[in-house]
Amino acid sequence: MSSSTKLTSAIGELDIEWVRQQFPALQQTVNGQPAVFFDAPGGTQVPQRVIDAIAGYFSTSNANTHGAFLTSARTDQVIAGARAAMADFLNCSADEVVFGPNMTTLTLALSRAVGRELKSGDELLVTVLDHDANVSPWVCLEERGVKVRTADIKRSDCTLDMFDLQAKIRRSTRLVAVGWAANAVGTINNVREAVRLAHAAGSMAFIDAVHYAPHGAIDVRALDCDFLACSAYKFFGPHLGILYGKREQLQRLRPYKLRASSELLPDRWETGTQNHECLAGLIAAVDYIADLGRRHKPEVASRREAILAAYEVIRQHERSLAERLITGLLEISGLTFYGIKDLARLDERTPTVAIRMEGHTPRELATKLGERGIFTWDGNYYAINLTERLGVETSGGMLRIGLAHYNTAEEVDRLLAELRGLANR
Ligand SMILES: Cc1ncc(COP(=O)(O)O)c(C=O)c1O
Repeated sequence: MSSSTKLTSAIGELDIEWVRQQFPALQQTVNGQPAVFFDAPGGTQVPQRVIDAIAGYFSTSNANTHGAFLTSARTDQVIAGARAAMADFLNCSADEVVFGPNMTTLTLALSRAVGRELKSGDELLVTVLDHDANVSPWVCLEERGVKVRTADIKRSDCTLDMFDLQAKIRRSTRLVAVGWAANAVGTINNVREAVRLAHAAGSMAFIDAVHYAPHGAIDVRALDCDFLACSAYKFFGPHLGILYGKREQLQRLRPYKLRASSELLPDRWETGTQNHECLAGLIAAVDYIADLGRRHKPEVASRREAILAAYEVIRQHERSLAERLITGLLEISGLTFYGIKDLARLDERTPTVAIRMEGHTPRELATKLGERGIFTWDGNYYAINLTERLGVETSGGMLRIGLAHYNTAEEVDRLLAELRGLANR
């Protein structure tokens, strides 16, 4: 794209050359072939600046918090900077951002705190479509005598059955746990409606945004959810998890914590010493996304606006990749496609698709593709309710092809050519 085009307010096409230059891992080769990273839902690659920020923390700022000396003050700044970055990323206040090792651990901590106020006869609602990290932490609470209901899917396109979801939310429902996007098949759920239904019944709403975060902008204020969790390693950052909680909920609930640790927000939710180096990397990841937005919309005034601009161009690029991928896959004989395949409905999905192919287990497909330098996932990727519901759990699950904005049309074509070759064998 020319620089004159970038000065206009039109978002233009993703500057894929610049994007790919940011990610050193994309330069790797396998058996002489460039590596193709179609494993994004399992974890994305990171820009050089994230690597530098993590290493830089150790060179200049490594210490524990709240000490009366330079490196400790720098560490405090890193933590404050990471909260500010996530506040821009999620559109919330910095004291509503809780850090932890990963989404699963944060969700288990939250479920334990929620469990303290539940009583026998209370209900919770989970879904068939979700990763188990948004199922088991709630099912664990059955030991307190609560009932967990499960909203079903429409099997034909792996979308959430919103009628079933609505029917299963009752006056006794205390929490509705829904994923924003399905890590196995890419469905984007109508989370706004799920939150509305939950609140109408007097229930809290928890959103798992782990799979959605690399693909779409998050606005917790607009969504009005009580809680939302995501993982930085899925949106170009390091391995750590983030929990948003509405201030009043974070204040009201009682997390399990040490006496010596602060009762202030959000500290009362953060157990032990945080991963400071990864928080430094997280700031860099959010700044990468913002810089991507600024390249395409230089007139943006704030980091939040730059993040929104980035997701506009990311969505557009991923949409065209998904169209190419799905069109190509549907032409391959002996292939079963799970999820939304209607090209008019690409807004309802991420560029994550799941397939099976006659004559090959998902593991065999992933292995053969891996040998050819194409990285995909096989199995259930912890979306175990879904693989059971689809009847594929005992036969290897599905092959998941998960794209990110740093992928290209040429990479999609390479995958399709390989799959066509395998289909004929
Ligand atoms: C949709 C979804 N939710 C939750 C998780 C769990 O995240 P974490 O690894 O941060 O615990 C994953 C991980 O793959 C996921 O894809």
